[in-house]
Amino acid sequence: MTATCAAPACTGTRRIVVGVSGSISAYKATFIIRQLRAAGHEVKVVASAAALKFIGESTLAALSGAPVASQLFSDAGAVEHVAIAEWAQLLLIAPASADLIAKLAVGRADDMLTTTALTTTAPIVISPAMHTQMWQHPATVANVEILRSRGVKVIEPASGRLTGKDSGPGRLPEPEQIVAQALEFLRQSEHFKAASNGGGAQVVDAVQNQGEPSQDQPGQNQPDQDLAAQDLQFSQDLAGKHFVISAGGTREAIDPVRFLGNRSSGRQGTALARAAVERGAHVTLVAANIEAALLAQLPEQVEVVKVVSALQLRDAVHEAGRSAQVIVMCAAVADFRPKTYAGFKLKKSTDSGETDKSYTLELVENPDILAGLAAQRLNEGQVIVGFAAETGDEHTSALEYGRRKALRKGADLLAVNTVGATSGFGDVANEIHVLDSHGQQVGHSAGSKLQVARDLVELIAQRLS
Ligand code: C5P
Repeated sequence: MTATCAAPACTGTRRIVVGVSGSISAYKATFIIRQLRAAGHEVKVVASAAALKFIGESTLAALSGAPVASQLFSDAGAVEHVAIAEWAQLLLIAPASADLIAKLAVGRADDMLTTTALTTTAPIVISPAMHTQMWQHPATVANVEILRSRGVKVIEPASGRLTGKDSGPGRLPEPEQIVAQALEFLRQSEHFKAASNGGGAQVVDAVQNQGEPSQDQPGQNQPDQDLAAQDLQFSQDLAGKHFVISAGGTREAIDPVRFLGNRSSGRQGTALARAAVERGAHVTLVAANIEAALLAQLPEQVEVVKVVSALQLRDAVHEAGRSAQVIVMCAAVADFRPKTYAGFKLKKSTDSGETDKSYTLELVENPDILAGLAAQRLNEGQVIVGFAAETGDEHTSALEYGRRKALRKGADLLAVNTVGATSGFGDVANEIHVLDSHGQQVGHSAGSKLQVARDLVELIAQRLS
């Protein structure tokens, strides 16, 4: 049977396990099940004991058309959690309670739902629902971060009226939104897996690879060292290729002690350098203000050119880029620089006896290096890749801003990463949607910065071949 699922460009029947945990919003799982089945998908429900206190087992069974799995020991010989986990092409847990999220983060397996989650190799989507304080508690924030870094898709809870009189973030989003996001994630996972399998290299699948230890976790001293990589065999299909990768963040001097800067750490760029070297490429890393400790971890095949400002970065990229097959502009480049540089430390107005306490700093625009490289290639057939850190707003999603940027910049690939509290800058995991120069999505990756880098290098390698 062929049916159309609710997500754009996702066709065909899929086997979906809907996990339900204990929450007042568990009743919404019935709408999710109904919509998935209406779209032609096969559904099995796995419910926690707490979930069945909020919603009747027979309702879930009737809507899904299959018995509900909730007892780990009802038929131990059948090893049902393994059978369901292997059957699943997607595990969607909605609602996901704070307790369930905590269990998943530490790998607990004490009931049917947690054992299924620990056993399955299918992509996992969770839709948290809980009281605002629980959602914002550092323990939950950390647990969610752990799950994201393992490639679990976490749907942001909606804001609004909660169970009591209060309101805030923590509500389960509307079922159609959950279904659309889950199916879109499944589509991207399948797309990415297919793309990865098409290439010759052993590329880590960011979504399915939930067992690989991430070395890019907060709190670890060596975020970009993937010890597991020592055991992996990478094909050397990029041998003889020269990558120029800009990384870090530029600093635009105001006076001898002050500058305009940004929060880019350079970790994604150094991870990209590592991922390209793994496959045999020679890399020039144009490093804008990256910590020495991070640079010291780089493999010796990476040549580092240190720069400070946007104009220095442009010159270094142009210099190295003439012999490069690939240029990746991962650095956060300041859009503006001070019009004039004060050769002495600027004084507060009160220091000179003036009473006007305002100060105006005049800025001029920096050249858009990426757009320039895309418009005029330094080397024939050169692949140009950009990054766009985006936050959405109430009118426009981060991805839509990314699409507009892809059209404007003209890079062959633009990795759009949504920057927020739990992804993007610094020592945190990352998620990218990769767009081509027409704004079409051609890839997606989520996980540690090294995983994301490997996935992006695979897409670049496909362009080169
Ligand atoms: O416009 P935005 O700064 O978001 O674009 C991000 C991308 O453009 C990154 O790849 C960055 O390295 C590049 N960029 C550039 N020159 C600038 C500003 C950004 O090459 N002046």
